Amino acid sequence: MPTWKDGKLGLPIAEAVRLFPELKKYLDECGRLDFSNREARILYNRAIAKAIFGLEIEYHPKGLVTTPVSRYLFLKTFLRGGERVLEIGTGHTAMMAIMAAKIFKCDVTATELDDEFFAYAKANIERNHAGVRLLKSEGGIIKGVVPEGERFDVIFSAPPYYEAPTRGVLTEREGVGGGRYGEAFSVGLIEEALDYLSPGGRVALFLPDKKPLIDAIAEKGEELGYSIRDIKFRAGTRWRHSLIMKKQNLSKLMSLLENRCPSGLVYSFKTK
Ligand SMILES: C[S@@+](CC[C@H](N)C(=O)[O-])C[C@H]1O[C@@H](n2cnc3c(N)ncnc32)[C@H](O)[C@@H]1O
Repeated sequence: MPTWKDGKLGLPIAEAVRLFPELKKYLDECGRLDFSNREARILYNRAIAKAIFGLEIEYHPKGLVTTPVSRYLFLKTFLRGGERVLEIGTGHTAMMAIMAAKIFKCDVTATELDDEFFAYAKANIERNHAGVRLLKSEGGIIKGVVPEGERFDVIFSAPPYYEAPTRGVLTEREGVGGGRYGEAFSVGLIEEALDYLSPGGRVALFLPDKKPLIDAIAEKGEELGYSIRDIKFRAGTRWRHSLIMKKQNLSKLMSLLENRCPSGLVYSFKTK
């Protein structure tokens, strides 16, 4: 696991200042960083990306301040290395797509909708020499964006998840998932993913600690025949969820069906 020299998945402020001396102006007399300042948060996260993960990331001035540690921890919940993966919505940093390619050695395809974020994502991918195939969405999630017939071991996303526009923190495209709890984008994604997953393939969603949202997505996932695992993890002061949905293969579905039949009425569905 990549860590700082002290073996921790974090970076001392003094090291961040050494990498980005501009950070000095956001320090108080006790050497504490003013995290309420957006520029300070961007510089600190750029320092973590560089010192711990070896990545050179430029942030869009108005985009979400993506935190590298939370994204890495999320990827660790479902990647072992070398998988063929698809990310929906890289954002301006393309941090997860780049980590999947460079740290997990995956074969990565990724998409982004917003024109400016797409241009930033492309530049970040090139700057880091990450072999990511970046596709532009014109509004579609997977269908009409990724060529038909392609199959992936994992399709992952940090989807937009608010029900309505939020004030300030995220742009509307970054934030609004739609639906009653913000689940609509994710539900569309898991529906479309069924046609793009390899047998036994998985969808993984990076979600906030918001139960009604997670329940709404998980309920739809079960209806679609996915088996579901919710992994809760802590990143800094926040709890996050990795909602992992596995596409059931036919024999598993048949054995589930067999188990539901009352004994005596069981027919064997096994082919061999
Ligand atoms: C919550 S942000 C996550 C960004 C980034 N992956 C991260 O980890 O911070 C969601 C991203 O999805 C993008 N997006 C929204 N709808 C999309 C679509 N239909 N296809 C591709 N990207 C989309 C937004 O522009 C935004 O960059």
